[in-house]
Amino acid sequence: MVAWSEQERSIIANLFSNLDYEDVGAKALTRCLIVYPWTQRYFGGFGNLYNAEAIKMNPNIAAHGVKILHGLDRALKNMDNIKETYAELSVLHSEKLHVDPDNFKLLSDVLTIVIAAKLGTDFTPEVQATFQKFLAVVVSALGKQYQ
Ligand code: HEM
Repeated sequence: MVAWSEQERSIIANLFSNLDYEDVGAKALTRCLIVYPWTQRYFGGFGNLYNAEAIKMNPNIAAHGVKILHGLDRALKNMDNIKETYAELSVLHSEKLHVDPDNFKLLSDVLTIVIAAKLGTDFTPEVQATFQKFLAVVVSALGKQYQ
C-alpha cells in the first residue's frame, strides 16, 4: 500500500477542491489527442477529430475529459485503497477498450501540464511531486489488469 503524509493528503484534497473540471478535463484530453495523435484511435465514435481545431470544438471529447477527471475523484476519495478502486476501470480499459496502458502515463503528463499552466506559481515543487505521485499510483492501478 502507498503511504501518504498528511501534507500530501491536504495538497491533493486542495488541488481537487479548486479544480475547474469542465475546463481542465476538456483541455487535458484535447491536448493528449493533439500531441499524441495515435490516441485518437480509441475515440473513433466521438465524431470529427479531423484536425486540432475540430478536436478542440468536439463536445464529446470535452465531455469525456470531464468524465476522466471524475474518474480521478475515485482515487481522491479512496487514497488508501487506490488499486482496488480502479480494478473495474482497469478491466474495462484493457479487455473491452484495448487501450494501450502507456497512454495512461501520456494523459497524466498532459493533465499535469494543463494544471501547472492554470495554477502558475501555486504549482510549487511540493504540489508537483505530490500530484505526480498521485497520478503514478492511479496509472499503476489502471494498468494492473494488463500485468
Ligand atoms: C472510458 C477513466 C485514460 C480511453 C472511461 C471512463 C472513465 C475513464 C471513468 C468511463 C467508464 C464507464 O463509462 O463506465 C479514465 C482515467 C484515465 C483514463 C481515470 C487515466 C488517468 C484513458 C486513456 C484512453 C482512454 C489514456 C485512451 C487513450 C477511454 C475510452 C473510453 C473510456 C475510449 C470509453 C468511451 C466511451 O465510448 O464512452 N475512462 N480513463 N482512457 N476511456 Fe478512459
